[in-house]
Amino acid sequence: MAAAGFAKDFVWGAATAAYQIEGAAYEDGKGESIWDRFCRVPGAIQDGSSGDIACDHYHRWREDVALMARLGLKGYRFSISWPRLLPLGKGARNQIGFDFYAHLVDALLENGIEPVITLYHWDLPQALQDQGGWLNRDTASWFAEYAAQVFVTLGDRVKTWITLNEPHIAAFLGHAEGLHAPGTRDLGAAVQASHVLHLAHALGVQAYRQVSPRKDRIGIALDLRAVYPFTDSDADASVLAMADSEYNRWYLDPIMKGVYPQELFGVYERAGCAPRVEPEDMALLKGNPVDFLGVNYYFPVRVKAMRRGPLLGFAVAEKPDCRRTDMGWEIEPRGLYDLLLRLKRDYDDPSVMITENGAAFSDEIVQDGEVQDDERIDYIASHLDVAHAAVAEGVKLRGYYVWSLMDNFEWSLGFSKRFGIVRVDYERGERTLKKSARWYQRLIASGGAELDL
Ligand code: FCB
Repeated sequence: MAAAGFAKDFVWGAATAAYQIEGAAYEDGKGESIWDRFCRVPGAIQDGSSGDIACDHYHRWREDVALMARLGLKGYRFSISWPRLLPLGKGARNQIGFDFYAHLVDALLENGIEPVITLYHWDLPQALQDQGGWLNRDTASWFAEYAAQVFVTLGDRVKTWITLNEPHIAAFLGHAEGLHAPGTRDLGAAVQASHVLHLAHALGVQAYRQVSPRKDRIGIALDLRAVYPFTDSDADASVLAMADSEYNRWYLDPIMKGVYPQELFGVYERAGCAPRVEPEDMALLKGNPVDFLGVNYYFPVRVKAMRRGPLLGFAVAEKPDCRRTDMGWEIEPRGLYDLLLRLKRDYDDPSVMITENGAAFSDEIVQDGEVQDDERIDYIASHLDVAHAAVAEGVKLRGYYVWSLMDNFEWSLGFSKRFGIVRVDYERGERTLKKSARWYQRLIASGGAELDL
């Protein structure tokens, strides 16, 4: 493996999200979120669990910051629970919620760890869902009002912000596939939700520029896919552009250029499910550019042309005989490399952060009480290796946030998938470093000098 010289100020980080770790779902004045509600739908969560307690981070946050300090993390990406701050999504403030995040931020800074805040990682206040949620354009404005309150409270200390996490997943898994909250199955609703999420993002950026006491960095975290043809047939090659539009350009183009990919928009239009775009919407997006792009990368997609059936003319096909994680996701670091270079080429050389990358494995091999997760180390190292190769090609990569700091509630899969570099014993709440955490600790200490420690 190549020795990797990352820049001195490269941010070695780890990421989490509020609903996946905090617990305290009904404590200290927090309002109900769509995930609190969704977890109660019979069959919605594979193991019947919920984020009610999760990693109990709400009570154990001091211990968790100490753990991060021990690992030598330079950055910590976490999300704020909107209903913990504004129980009904707007209006009355829950001061205890604001204080919780203020204390967390202070503790991180005291330990030399840069806080990176995601404002929306899927836990919409249920009260706003009751008014249409992401199908209601007003939700975008309410998001910006909530965001403005956070900027005012924490903007003097936090210098890196992320508006939304993966609008694609929030829109499509939540509204078309019914796998995530709010759990509806309607393509038109998903497409409309994606548009309102885009508006929320743009209004959030606008609010930041208007109200933040400091003007540092604001961006968005997108789940981007490297898209490859399943076979080398002409037919499979011919659907690549459409698949790329669905997974990547539907988000990248409005955010980076203020336009939707026309071909895909046309398909949605003909199917009667195009988003309702008001005349000022695209100008709003264009007028509020990001300072950086957050890339969440896990696996590539391979697409196969389908003459009949799917609206977009393709289906996702699984490459046979390849290494996969416990999620069943193909392991292909080259996808990350291709993506990073593509962003540089097609989107005007943006500043980029890898805001999520990591792997679930069953973590069964325990030796002297330690999880021997060599596969996870291998996964992270091989992705960092190509990230470094991309840097050598001139990609402006500022940081890497491993998903995840600790095992947590993996949405509809409950606690059955472990992504952490730190193991969580859910019965006792205990945290223990896995081998990968100790490896990451040494890697950070070496400034990323040697990936194969
Ligand atoms: C991403 C999510 C994150 C986590 C990982 C495994 O899509 O942003 O919360 O669930 O997948």
